[in-house]
Amino acid sequence: MIALPPNTTLLPDAEATARAAADHLVAIAETAASERIAICLSGGSTPKRLYELLASEAYVDRLPWSRLHWFFGDDRVVPWDDPLSNVRMVREAFGHGAALPPTHFHFIASDEGAEIGARAYQRTLQQYYGAETLDPARPLFDLVLLGLGSDGHTASLFPGKPAVEETKAWVAPVPEAGMEPFVPRITLTFPAIASSRSVLFLVNGAGKRDPLSRLAAGEDLPSGRARSEGHLEWFIDKAAADA
Ligand code: 6PG
Repeated sequence: MIALPPNTTLLPDAEATARAAADHLVAIAETAASERIAICLSGGSTPKRLYELLASEAYVDRLPWSRLHWFFGDDRVVPWDDPLSNVRMVREAFGHGAALPPTHFHFIASDEGAEIGARAYQRTLQQYYGAETLDPARPLFDLVLLGLGSDGHTASLFPGKPAVEETKAWVAPVPEAGMEPFVPRITLTFPAIASSRSVLFLVNGAGKRDPLSRLAAGEDLPSGRARSEGHLEWFIDKAAADA
């Protein structure tokens, strides 16, 4: 087994990871003190099963949907009906069950390019938050879900790209992605990710052994820079852990 990050829960397989994450999200919603609960969704393929579960009979009645606000950690700058769009993936995943109770999705606009879309999404977040400066004592998100790219990226914060170094803006354009799909992106920055009560990485599959090993060896990869004002943890399946 490879060395794993601190605060890792090892799960048997991808289905177990998704179920553990669904239980984790239910627990966060049950203990949230505020009326509104802000969940930041990750993209890519790993979290799709989690989102399907949340909308399934097993979980749909366990969540306070009218209090939930769903945001995105990043998206690809493609039309929302494009197979590469995280909006499409999320709509398909949440829509697979019965019709969801009323809830609040805050999608990243992708029809005017990365620069304009990033500014617009930052305004969306600031309007929700009610201020233009993040207060460490008042995190923006209750939970930020993150994935791990095979190159060590997270959200759309790719190694060597300028957005990784952003310390003021909450949202940044990524004109050139660091790995496929090579389309422009819009991403939360590390200050916005850190404005969270908790961060949860979901990592499945043998393809993630390399970035996990590189992180354990102390390499400065973007995924290793993620922080939370609260608790940061990892749900990793045995295939990724080579366990
Ligand atoms: C995206 C994601 C990205 C993803 C990782 C892992 O839009 O692609 O936000 O950061 O989490 O690339 O992707 P997989 O889950 O598909 O391996």
